[in-house]
Amino acid sequence: MILQVFLNYPPLAPCGEVCSYSEQIGNASGMAYPELYKQINCDDIMRRMAYRRHRIEYPPPLYPPDALIPNFTMNGQMPIREVMYFMQTHTKTVCKFRKKYIYKVTEKIVKGEQVNTYRSGTCVEDTLKEYINEFKGKRSVVIGTIRPWLEALLMVYGGRNVITLEYNECDVNVDQLEVHTPYDFAEKYLRGTVDQFDFGVTFSSLEHSGLGRYTDPINPYGDLEAMAQIWCMLKPGGILLLGIPCVDHDNGYIVWNAHRVYGIKRLQQMTANWRVLQVIKCEDFHVVYVLRRLLF
Ligand SMILES: C[S@@+](CC[C@H](N)C(=O)[O-])C[C@H]1O[C@@H](n2cnc3c(N)ncnc32)[C@H](O)[C@@H]1O
Repeated sequence: MILQVFLNYPPLAPCGEVCSYSEQIGNASGMAYPELYKQINCDDIMRRMAYRRHRIEYPPPLYPPDALIPNFTMNGQMPIREVMYFMQTHTKTVCKFRKKYIYKVTEKIVKGEQVNTYRSGTCVEDTLKEYINEFKGKRSVVIGTIRPWLEALLMVYGGRNVITLEYNECDVNVDQLEVHTPYDFAEKYLRGTVDQFDFGVTFSSLEHSGLGRYTDPINPYGDLEAMAQIWCMLKPGGILLLGIPCVDHDNGYIVWNAHRVYGIKRLQQMTANWRVLQVIKCEDFHVVYVLRRLLF
């Protein structure tokens, strides 16, 4: 059975420059590559998430619709290199936040061991430690979760208020943690009931945004919109750790519908209005970009 969800919401707000690949170099001497600056209308960007009008399809399409291929591929610059198809609903049975897990992970963190669930070594753990003053006693957001190892790291290192955004529902049984869907959180943002975060972290998540693998809306700009949403939710000057798979050439590619692998061209788009402070290569193909939200 094919399920398509269309909700009776107001017309889709414009995405503006966030969903455009035109280059607007703002600062040619960025640390990793020239910085792009874009106009971001936060209310519009949050309306698009809150009152989603992109299609949610289950199972997700076997290949992107023809009309959207230029948008997905940056007009052919970031090609679809292969198909590795997933139809993954992970509901409360998969995403569980349990005290027992947090205790177990905490022991490892105290010993300085790897707690991420990848072959990445301790790149995220080490980077979080380095930026501890940016989140200690402050408000942080985690984007994308299955196991709460990132949340545990933030708590152990003194994060005061840790909120997770995840497309799918999670079963949470840990007092200090809260999980929201980005749809509900965007609605709260629009109602003015959320405070901006001081710090954000996301690992191995945004490369999936918009490909439908996780029952998320099919959206060629899903990752760029997610970055713009984070930009809107973070205080000016706040730090974001962005961990995504990267490749050492300009273009990058898409493995439909598994993930994107980023080259400089899309990274520049992802990090528009952010300053790259540091680039840390993990032991696998993930790279952690340390970004500061620019002050406009
Ligand atoms: C590969 S999983 C891993 C997440 C996390 N690094 C972990 O190890 O638990 C990626 C998750 O990110 C979520 N995700 C991706 N983009 C997202 C977004 N923009 N907002 C909320 N959740 C997102 C997906 O639903 C999926 O559960």
